[in-house]
Parts: sequence; structure tokens; C-alpha cells
Amino acid sequence: MATPKTLISEEQIKARVEELAAQISLDYADTGELVLVGILKGAFIFLADLSRRLSIPRCIEFMAVSSYEHGSVRSGAVRLVMDVRRSIEGKHVLIVEDIVDTGHTLRYLIDMLQSREPASIRTCALLHKEDSTEVDVKIDYTGFSIGDEWVVGYGLDYDEKDRTLPYIGMINPDA
Ligand code: PRP
Repeated sequence: MATPKTLISEEQIKARVEELAAQISLDYADTGELVLVGILKGAFIFLADLSRRLSIPRCIEFMAVSSYEHGSVRSGAVRLVMDVRRSIEGKHVLIVEDIVDTGHTLRYLIDMLQSREPASIRTCALLHKEDSTEVDVKIDYTGFSIGDEWVVGYGLDYDEKDRTLPYIGMINPDA
């Protein structure tokens, strides 16, 4: 497959991550430790860069989920594959996603984590496919809104390829 065309450059990502980190640091300046919950696999690079730019006390947890698929079509049902290791009860939680597409994954995560009685839950996604989102889900911190293109890089893959590209690229899977 050809080299993915650049949708969002490395420099644009870096600048936006800095802005998000500054905003999050400001918003949580007086709340104590923030628990960043990165959603594997896609969020690992974004989480690494975002967390290192925060100026507030923070700790890192991970969750992994999997979508049920019928052929190449997602059913919207989500299954937990890996949970956080520590209790989030009474903690301030920020869910960190690489992308919100239909929104089903984030809806599932918010509902599940909310039931554990954290002090607060907010959400952060590097990318949001606004026109594809099917469920009501609030994204408190969005990096970039994008169209309905296939995107890879900076943690996102196509069939496990191109996750480590330093930029967000567009591909045509049918090409
Ligand atoms: C991606 C992404 C989100 C989810 C968003 O994960 O990381 O978790 O899809 O899709 P939705 O809004 O339609 O629910 P993916 O299933 O590709 O797994 P990966 O992160 O392990 O690559």
C-alpha cells in the first residue's frame, strides 16, 4: 500500500497536544491527582505525549476494549478486554482516546466507569469523526474534528499497520 497522505502533520499534532495539556492542567489545577485512563491500543502514543506535557499531579491507567464486528461492520456492542488496575472511586478520571467514531466505545466506557463512583469523569479524544457519531457522548477535550476518512498513524492502525507513523495519514483501504 502507498505511503499515507498527510491529513494532520507531526507539527500540528505537537502544537495541539501542547494546547490540550495546557487547558487540562488549568482545569484540574486545584483538584489533586488526575487519573488518565488510556484506551488501548490506539491511545498509547497520544497518552504518552499528553501526559508528559501536563503540569499537574497525574497517574496512568489503561483499559482495552474490543468491538463486536459482523464482517467489516461494527455492531456497536463493546466488550471489556482489560480493566484498570486500581480503584477509581473518589478519583478525578480523564478517559483518553485516539479517536471517537460512532461513539459506542466511549459511551460504554463512561457508563462503566461512572458506576464506580469517581469524583468526576471527563473525556479527551485526539480525533472526532463528528458526522459518524451515532450516540450521545460528550467529548470535553477534542484535538481535531475530521471527516469520514480512514486514518492511520500516531497510534491508529489499519489492520495493525501504520500505528507508528508520526503523523495522521489518510488511506484508501480499497486501493
Ligand atoms: C478505535 C479507537 C476507539 C474506537 C472508537 O479502536 O481507539 O477505541 O475505535 O470507535 P467508536 O467510536 O466507533 O466506538 P479500535 O477498535 O480500532 O482498536 P485499537 O485502538 O486497538 O486499534
